[in-house]
Amino acid sequence: MGEVDPAFIQDLEHRPELATIEAEGIPLIDLSALNSADAVSDTSLISDIGDACKKWGFFQVINHGVPLEKREKLEKAAREFFDRPLEEKVKIRRDEVRVLGYYDTEHTKNVRDWKEVFDFTVQNPTIVPASTRPDDKQVAQWHNQWPEFPPQLREACEEYAGEVDKLCFKLMELIALSLGLPADSFNGFFKDQTSFVRLNHYPPCPAPELALGVGRHKDAGALTVLAQDDVGGLEVKRKSDGEWIRVKPTPNAFIINVGDMIQVWSNERYESVEHRVMVNSEKERFSIPFFFNPAHYTMIKPLEEITSEENPARYRPYNWGKFFVTRKGSNFKKLDVENIQI
Ligand code: SIN
Ligand code: FE2
Repeated sequence: MGEVDPAFIQDLEHRPELATIEAEGIPLIDLSALNSADAVSDTSLISDIGDACKKWGFFQVINHGVPLEKREKLEKAAREFFDRPLEEKVKIRRDEVRVLGYYDTEHTKNVRDWKEVFDFTVQNPTIVPASTRPDDKQVAQWHNQWPEFPPQLREACEEYAGEVDKLCFKLMELIALSLGLPADSFNGFFKDQTSFVRLNHYPPCPAPELALGVGRHKDAGALTVLAQDDVGGLEVKRKSDGEWIRVKPTPNAFIINVGDMIQVWSNERYESVEHRVMVNSEKERFSIPFFFNPAHYTMIKPLEEITSEENPARYRPYNWGKFFVTRKGSNFKKLDVENIQI
């Protein structure tokens, strides 16, 4: 990426502090209980998840059941892929028509991110019944493009995604219980999915005080499950005071965060929180977020079990597929409480 192009330079107020607070980290939650048959009756686990969602919108999990070898296999294949020459990687570049694949020119809030990326979807959309497709063109765009090298990348991606998908269902069950709902309340939304996985590579940056790997943003989907390597760089905006807090890497942990969709479903009991990624001048960094998202045709709105006369819906229903293809930043509509039209 060479010298720092002005396109990468953040406005003064959004530049990273190189020495940020690490004192109070996001909560670390042990999911060992999930391996026992009655995990859903583990009330302390459920209340820990609920507290973390409320206070931070972020938490880390250990003993999550995703086999380490699957993660390591993908991390190795991802490194090999990004190591290939650019001419080769751009053969599977994403464009207006094919939205999945390789790209190195992502912008967040109009500032270029210091990273290169490979995206693939978890579920083959052809299984979505034709009658429920909102727009065939949109589904046609949603196809994976696999590189020729390394040849094992595809298998590594598919195996890893299968494991993390299972974890997402379990996390959604715990989140449902923490909201006082039946465990399976969200399962129906994820029978068909638009979940996708992103392989991120952040090369060393000559000006880490000016640029960001990913600028500040919130995740639009339901849940994100992130594997970060031991370099670190993810920062979360602490809800209590708006400070940027570094998330210290924990070996073999996943960082989980609530996306905009859970904010809407829960009518803001849980909120989607801003985060960003710092880069550094010495080390490259790799990370792998899994974005757990329902099918294109899903309507998203506050759950009826949560809203009431005293707690009226704060969001208008929106179609996820339409939102996803048209979004430029987070543009879902928050309702004026006086002006609800559902
Ligand atoms: C992201 O939020 O998009 C990436 C997170 C990371 O790389 O740590
Ligand atoms: Fe994110």
